[in-house]
Formats: sequence, structure tokens, C-alpha cells
Amino acid sequence: MTQEELFKKLIAHCKEYGFIFPSSEIYDGLGAVYDYGQNGVELKNNIKRYWWDSMVKLHENIVGIDAAIFMHPKTWEASGHVAAFNDPLIDNKDSKKRYRADVLIEEWMAKQDEKIQKECDKARKRFGEAFDEAQYRATSPRVLEIAAKRDAVHARFVEALDKNDLEGLKQIILDCEIVCPISGTRNWTDVRQFNLMFSTQMGSTAEGANTIYLRPETAQGIFVNFLNVQKTGRMKLPFGIAQIGKAFRNEIVARQFIFRMREFEQMEMQFFVQPGTEMQWWNEWKNTRMAWHRALGFGDNMYRFHDHDKLAHYANAATDIEFNFPFGFKEVEGIHSRTDFDLGRHQEYSGKKIQYFDPERGESYVPYVVETSIGVDRMFLQIMSAAYCEEKLENGEERVVLRIPACLAPTKVAVMPLVKKDGLPELARQIIDDLKFDYTVAYDEKDSIGKRYRRQDAVGTPFCVTVDHDSLETGTVTIRFRDTMEQQRVAIADLEKIIGEAVSFRPLYKKIKA
Ligand code: GAP
Repeated sequence: MTQEELFKKLIAHCKEYGFIFPSSEIYDGLGAVYDYGQNGVELKNNIKRYWWDSMVKLHENIVGIDAAIFMHPKTWEASGHVAAFNDPLIDNKDSKKRYRADVLIEEWMAKQDEKIQKECDKARKRFGEAFDEAQYRATSPRVLEIAAKRDAVHARFVEALDKNDLEGLKQIILDCEIVCPISGTRNWTDVRQFNLMFSTQMGSTAEGANTIYLRPETAQGIFVNFLNVQKTGRMKLPFGIAQIGKAFRNEIVARQFIFRMREFEQMEMQFFVQPGTEMQWWNEWKNTRMAWHRALGFGDNMYRFHDHDKLAHYANAATDIEFNFPFGFKEVEGIHSRTDFDLGRHQEYSGKKIQYFDPERGESYVPYVVETSIGVDRMFLQIMSAAYCEEKLENGEERVVLRIPACLAPTKVAVMPLVKKDGLPELARQIIDDLKFDYTVAYDEKDSIGKRYRRQDAVGTPFCVTVDHDSLETGTVTIRFRDTMEQQRVAIADLEKIIGEAVSFRPLYKKIKA
């Protein structure tokens, strides 16, 4: 199965099993907007809990807020979003499809990297054990030729982005002979800038109405509350403010399911530090955030850092944590050193002093900020991509199983009476009534036990508990483990402990703090 086929299956699975539906589907949906179903919302809530607790509970000096989506319009002038929150767009005149010019070029560069890797893989096969990839990359004429072409384009690309040179971007697209994937032609329009913010009107009459924006990032709600939190919480630098909330972007090229949405959710943390210490904190947060991802156990090789070619208008250093999705390594999280840009600009635009008195230094200043910013939906897609698994079993049957880490699984345990009579449903209900205070629990009495197991595998439930006639006599049940399919006979009284240990976030938090 190709990665593309796998991704299509994953999307279909998300719908079939109540994880994600297209928004307002009965009206044929709305582009790049999605609804989370009964299993999706549980997984999403667990992701948010993993993030929130690892920020707010594990760090004495990080507190949370929940700011409004609507903000004073000046916020977005001060932040630079009105002037500079743009994407460079280009249309293909034959297919009438619209693309982000920067993404087309980035994809072209990624293809060159793939070509180089293929050359190396071929050579490895030829030379066997003795193959030295670093030496081959440094000496192979073919590899050097591809690398030189790629590096030259990269240099032009960075310069064009820095200078906001839209003609330069188009010229790169033409020079690299990039074609539209739909029409296969190079019949491109000029590149134009497009602002990504959605706007609406606040106020009941047209004359008195104010244009306001749906926030494109949650971070500004934190910046404008810096003094409120610092003063009321008597916070001392360095300290952080965390927030989870909706953000909106009028993405033009909205593709790849929930990877790029127009309405999405962010988990952001702004860490306020003394000027001059921001690089140290930036490095620290890079490591902490990478550890948070890796603790999920999908494999360290599934992640990498990618430093930005073009820094956002507010940043002096920025890197992404990328995950290896079925469509390649792509950004899940950004870690940005935002300097004193945001607080400084809000100070300027509001006319209010936004400074911190540092008792150690005996002076007031605008703090610097290191931000960690991750999309809940991208994290969701990361987990689903890594967890989705089609398996052939020893008896020849097939199963689809979601190997979601137990702490994040939407349902923790399904309780099933072997038959719908003889008091077994009643005992199953008693077990549920006890477990449901702590866990999301499902009851299932329909179809054969095998079918019921498959249904739970497909939604990632780590444990199935079967109640049979012996259970009435002995107070024991069968617990079946999702990943190994192993079954054990255990006392009903022990269920709470077995499940509790397996679904706890504690081992993950320990890994992050190690
Ligand atoms: N406050 C900084 C900021 O918003 P960003 O790199 O534009 O930085 C941060 O966004 C994260 O938000 C991304 O790494 C991604 O996970 C998520 N994100 C951004 N745009 C998104 C979109 N259109 N759909 C889904 N997630 C998105």
C-alpha cells in the first residue's frame, strides 16, 4: 500500500468510526472546516489534557488563561498581522488551481533532497557494507550537481522571501520548471500577496460598526494580558502563560485533511524571559517540546527539527518540529524566539507601559518571549497517522487497529457480557458503574465477541473486559489487551488498578522531565 492509499484509508476510517466529519456535510461540506465526532472529541480532549498538564501542572512558573477570540482591532495592527500576515499566491491559468508560491518551491527543493537520497541508496546497494554515505555525498559528481542546483535555488528563495520579492518567487518557479500537478503546464499568473485574516463587523448598525478579526493565533490574547497575569499572579521572570483555543485563517491552499484548516485549535505558551537569555530558553524549550512528542513512543526517527528559512516579522530564531506524516515530514509545532516585538508594539499602540520591574537587575524593561505553538488538529493527525495499522492475523483474518497510546485513547475500556441473559449484562453494568467515575467506558452486547473486539480495536480501546458465567461464581473476568490481543483472567476488584496504571499520563510526564 502506498502512503497515499494509506492516507485515504485513514481519512475514511476517521469518518466511519466517528472521529472526524466534514463540516455541515448535508450541505456538501465547507472547505477545510471539519467537525469532531464522538470518538474524535475524546481524543482531542485527551491531547489537550496532555499538553495543558505538561505545561501548567508540571511547571510552577507557568499559568493558564482563556482569552476571548474577538480582540480590539488595534491588537492586529500592533502585532503586524494587518500589514504582514500574508501568503504569496500563484494561479495556474489552465487548471485554475491556486497554490502558495513558497510551498511550490519548498516542494521542489524537497524533491531534490529525495533525488540525492535515492542516489545514495543506489550506491549503498552497489558498495554494500563498506559504503560511507557522508563521503559519497561529498564526492559523487551527480550528487554534487543536484545539491549545487538545490542550494542555489535555496539562496534565491531566502533572498526573495526576505525582500518580499514576488517577481523573484515567480522567476524561481519558472526557472525550476515547476508544473501544476493538475494541468501539468507552466502557465502561471504573477505572484500576489493575500491576507489570511477573516474579518467581521461588531456593532448593530452599519455606521457604528467596527471591523474586527477572528484571531489568527491565540498568542495575542496572552500578550495583551501580560500585565494582568504578572501582577495578579505576582509572577517573577522567567514565567509562562499557556492557552488553548480556536484560531482562524483564510487558508487559500487548504489541503491534506485536517493538516491545514480554516478553523483550527492552537495550544500556545509564551515564556517571558530576561533580554539576552532568550537563546538559552529557546534551546531549552526545543528540547522539552521534542521530549513531549517522543514520549508518545511512535519512534524518535518520526520527528525532526526544521529551522525556518524566513523568520516571521516578530522572530529572531525559529524552528519547527516536523512529524513524518503519510505525505512526508511536515510541521506540527513551532518554537519561536519572538524578542520583545509583541509586548513592545502593544506598549506603543496602546500607550500603556508594558514592562517588568526586575528586582535582581534593579530596572524595568520589556521582557523577551520564547513561544511554543502547536496545533491540536495537527497533533490529532499525527496520532492517527502513527496509530493506524492494518494487520493480518495468524488465523488469516485481518484487523484494523488504532495503536493510540492508552492515556490518549478515546475509550479506555469496553465491557461486554458474553451473552445477553443469565445476569451477565447486569454484572457488566455493575462493573461499568464503578469504572465510569474514572474512565470513559463503553458497553457492547451486540454480535460475537470477535466482532466486538474488532469494533474496539478500530477505535483504539486499549482494554476489553468480557463477563461470562464464571464471572458470576468467581468474581473474575477476562481482560483482553488491544495491542497483543493477549487475554488474562483477573479479579473484578483488580480492574481499576490494571487499567489505572496503563492509562496514566505519569510515565510520559516522567520522560519529559527526565
Ligand atoms: N503564534 C505562532 C503561530 O501561530 P504558526 O507556525 O503560524 O505560529 C503554529 O502556527 C501551529 O499552529 C502550527 O505549527 C500548526 O500546528 C498550527 N496551525 C497553523 N496553521 C494551521 C492551519 N491552517 N490548520 C491547522 N493547524 C494550523
